[in-house]
Amino acid sequence: MKPLALFVKHDGQSSRASVTCEYKCANACFHEVPNTSDGEYFGDIISSLNRRGLIKGGAAAVLAVGAGSVLAACGDDAATGTVIPTNTPVGPAGTGTAFTAVAPNKQDAITIPDGYEQSVVIRWGDPLFADAPAFDFEKQTPAAQAKQFGYNNDFAALLPIEGHANSSLLVVNHEYTTGPHMFRGYNKDVPTDEQIAITMAAHGLTVVQVEGESGTGKLTTAFGKYNRRITATTEFTLIGPAAGSEFVKTSADQTGTKVLGTFANCSGGVTPWGTVLSGEENFHGYFANGDKVTETAEKRVKRYGFTAGKTLNQWERADKRFDMAQEPNEANRFGYVVEVDPWDPTSTPIKHSAMGRLKHEGATIYVTKNGDVVSYTGDDEKFDYMYKFVSSRKIQSGTGQASMRHNLTILDAGTLYVAQLAGNHADKIDGNGAVPSDKGFTGTGKWLPLLETGDDGKGKSLVDGMSAAEVAVFTRLAADKVGATKMDRPEDFEANPYTGKVYVALTNNDNRGKDGKQGADEANPRNLNKNGQILEIDDDHAGTEFTWSLLLVCGDPAAADTYFAGFDKTKVSPISCPDNLAFDPYGNLWISTDGNALKSNDGLFSVVLEGPNRGATKQFLTVPRGAETCGPIVTESRVIVCVQHPGEADDATPENPLSHWPDGGDKQPRPSVAVVWKKDGGRIGV
Ligand code: FEO
Ligand code: CA
Ligand code: CA
Ligand code: CA
Repeated sequence: MKPLALFVKHDGQSSRASVTCEYKCANACFHEVPNTSDGEYFGDIISSLNRRGLIKGGAAAVLAVGAGSVLAACGDDAATGTVIPTNTPVGPAGTGTAFTAVAPNKQDAITIPDGYEQSVVIRWGDPLFADAPAFDFEKQTPAAQAKQFGYNNDFAALLPIEGHANSSLLVVNHEYTTGPHMFRGYNKDVPTDEQIAITMAAHGLTVVQVEGESGTGKLTTAFGKYNRRITATTEFTLIGPAAGSEFVKTSADQTGTKVLGTFANCSGGVTPWGTVLSGEENFHGYFANGDKVTETAEKRVKRYGFTAGKTLNQWERADKRFDMAQEPNEANRFGYVVEVDPWDPTSTPIKHSAMGRLKHEGATIYVTKNGDVVSYTGDDEKFDYMYKFVSSRKIQSGTGQASMRHNLTILDAGTLYVAQLAGNHADKIDGNGAVPSDKGFTGTGKWLPLLETGDDGKGKSLVDGMSAAEVAVFTRLAADKVGATKMDRPEDFEANPYTGKVYVALTNNDNRGKDGKQGADEANPRNLNKNGQILEIDDDHAGTEFTWSLLLVCGDPAAADTYFAGFDKTKVSPISCPDNLAFDPYGNLWISTDGNALKSNDGLFSVVLEGPNRGATKQFLTVPRGAETCGPIVTESRVIVCVQHPGEADDATPENPLSHWPDGGDKQPRPSVAVVWKKDGGRIGV
């Protein structure tokens, strides 16, 4: 590898605009931290399972999302030819990272390595149905938006359609909206009723069919029969120990099971049975009057960060369920992992309360060789926790409805755990990021049980003084009681399809060690942490013990407080604020970033995990001004990224946009999904 031009200055300020903090996470960046409380590889089993039955949409689905063992294990069934032999990486370690690194920059473009091409797959407002109008920034309506691609795409999954070599379903989350950038003359104090309805329709998820162009990696959308929009008003079913409890009943739903909508959907995952998981993250920002609740509710409300007064989007004006003074329980119906079956556009999506209620970044699945299903999820807030759910139900093979029905219940029974970590060199951690030993930052950990959900869907609390429903709905408070470890904003998890090791993006935490707040520990080794780190967990997946190490301590490689698994720091790309993770077909980790504190645009990076180049980190692309990079998918022939909030800046308006991406000229910026491929049609990074 060649040394890279390092122009970055380590001044420690995230580039995230205030407006991003306001609208995306309801000022989670600035509000008081709400936590004030003190291998074995599935490939071995796959031969005994009917592969076609495992993944409804085609076996390549797993590969396409880089989602872990199950997908990879099914590779020999893949129509795309992306075959991964059982438990053996394709090619030597580092295969797939042979591209010339992109230099950090501030361009209003996606910049990619020489020899690669790119195109936009779909952008905010593009029609999803034949009867949907074309996007017109000046003439938006709620009805149009409900049939068009939503705003601020985050997670993406690509699920091949079986029997159609070039067709796939693209499933995308729409995390949040920003009125000041969506509408001309937007009055944030009094948005119009129509603007409120448009923003509600611009949230949720999209399912859209995409077609590959032969000979290139280009993808274009089609009005396929699976196309669907899920919005803030789509009906969901809440199941598990929270369902029907006193905490989730509302005046509109006395059953406590029928919930309208999903929003703040950040990252997600793909299941081996062909469904898509999505994490409801910063839902607290959608509920007004968080101070007007009962004394009993106050502690719970504070722990989730609800605040007083009206909300930014003011949905409470359109529907009283968003006003906690009028409907105190509605907010308890958000903050779950949701599961959508994209293969049935009429299906009612599920909210799984057995997996806990927190600010789920996403949820990713790993399956052990015994068929045990484990889902990992991070609670993205400063000083919050890492969780896993171990199902008591094993995957069933077979193509029939019975198997599918069974597999759709896997996330409804099992045990929810939260992580507690200890460092091996605790006495050497001083908060400056100095590497404590030859082997770097290492330690051990335990998964502490919180909630066991039985086959009947009823829960058993494993936390003293809390009922099962309380643990399911107020999971953060349960985790506080058992002594979980406070992390630096746990975001995406991803399991390595070859080794089973689990990787976690810890994005940053500028409150670590500040003003009497908890100081550095070995897994979170820097005070005032602006650049984040990547944790590597060697987990006994269905068990309760693990060991861990830090793969990367991110930032400017020239700075003393960064670490790249011992790799030569003069030969790596600067990387800051890791957010979403994905695996390529060769077992390399890919990381997208959010909030680069190094004065460059956000980007996507590859990291070699095994062999002598372990830690080699290289930037594959940068996204346009004001954007963050989300939802990466790395297949053999394509890199897909969601470009979220291009042009987002405090002083940007439709009259004075920061970005004109993707349409150029004087056009408004539009959140979009983009695809990159190799010019010669060859394999990415090979
Ligand atoms: Fe939506 Fe955790 O970022
Ligand atoms: Ca995220
Ligand atoms: Ca991921
Ligand atoms: Ca993010």
